[in-house]
Amino acid sequence: MPSKIVLFGATGYTGELTARAMVARGLQPVLAARSRARVETLAKELGGLEARVADVNAPASLDTLLHEGDVLVTTVGPFMRWGSPALDAAIRRRAHYLDSTGEGPFIRDVFEKAGPRAEPLGIALLTAMGYDFVPGNLAGAMALERAGENARRVEVGYFWQGAGGAGGMSGGTRASAAGVLFESSFAWRGGAMRRERGARSVRSFNVDGREVQAVSIGGTEHFTLPALDPRLEEVGVYLGWFGPLTRPLQAVAAGNAAITKVPGVKQALTAAMARFVKGSTGGPDEAAREQTRSVIVATAYDAAGKGLATVQLTGPNGYDITAAFLAWGADRAAAGEIHGAGALGPVEAFGLEPLKAAAAEYGLVES
Ligand SMILES: NC(=O)c1ccc[n+]([C@@H]2O[C@H](COP(=O)([O-])OP(=O)(O)OC[C@H]3O[C@@H](n4cnc5c(N)ncnc54)[C@H](OP(=O)(O)O)[C@@H]3O)[C@@H](O)[C@H]2O)c1
Repeated sequence: MPSKIVLFGATGYTGELTARAMVARGLQPVLAARSRARVETLAKELGGLEARVADVNAPASLDTLLHEGDVLVTTVGPFMRWGSPALDAAIRRRAHYLDSTGEGPFIRDVFEKAGPRAEPLGIALLTAMGYDFVPGNLAGAMALERAGENARRVEVGYFWQGAGGAGGMSGGTRASAAGVLFESSFAWRGGAMRRERGARSVRSFNVDGREVQAVSIGGTEHFTLPALDPRLEEVGVYLGWFGPLTRPLQAVAAGNAAITKVPGVKQALTAAMARFVKGSTGGPDEAAREQTRSVIVATAYDAAGKGLATVQLTGPNGYDITAAFLAWGADRAAAGEIHGAGALGPVEAFGLEPLKAAAAEYGLVES
């Protein structure tokens, strides 16, 4: 049976953007979501695609969608709350897996727990295959290639520019960001993966000649860049969305780290946040997205801290980048053009030049 692409979460904000990006590539994904009426309406609008009902609360409904060699793309999040059933179903059914998460704890579980289960089965798990964290993987790999054999540290920063800014987040992104706030994070330091609290460090990046502050987060780059270059001792990933609020945000995160050590407090805060931030409230429309640009900067350093190479990529709004890379990655995976098995980064899975070419096709280019 030829492999098919199943898009789970198709009726959500990012899911629908992804469905449209897939159709624009000439793909015919099976659309899956929990509301039969809504998924059937979308499938019809997109040219008569197959529509299926699936719910994370009924994992068997996911299993019935998949066969060995299929490609499951999921945008059902927050992933720390709702992500595991789709990941587990992909592994059970031996399907390749791509998701839209940006949540560090979920990413860590994919690399440390799910990856070793998937590898012997020959399937690939591509987590955070969107704005988080494909552009940083690309910029980081390009900087490493240019820096040569003396590179020991890479620092990657993500920035949004334009009228939309971080205010143009979807309900799902706000819900996911809220969930991450109380979680511990991680980073590649001293040649090993270390646990650290979220927003542990702040540093500034030169973005288009301006110094912009950014706060540390856990990205896939901590796992994937050392896999590309085992000499790397340090990887830093930073989010520069918050401007002058960056330092206060770090202080709030540090406060939360202390408060959430009190038994029961973390669960209560997370539950309160889940009630407050609902998700599924839509996101910026096309006009608003067009007013926002993404800028990603990566610098490779030597052991003495000397900058060896910097790559800056500029491209469309983060949601358009997410839909584009999920569609492109699913297309490549379904065509059997994926190298390796287990939890992989996009450069490892697809190769640097093909990834660079795909990014350029979608307008994400060096600036
Ligand atoms: N990595 C990145 O750069 C990036 C970019 C964009 C989004 N994201 C992430 O992607 C996720 C989705 O974001 P979004 O903006 O699309 O949010 P959203 O509109 O709230 O979408 C969430 C999706 O989850 C579905 N869902 C919730 N509970 C479900 C259940 N029990 N069974 C089946 N489906 C269920 C929703 O279904 P309904 O349609 O029925 O409500 C909806 O399709 C979030 O975690 C967000 O952080 C990441």
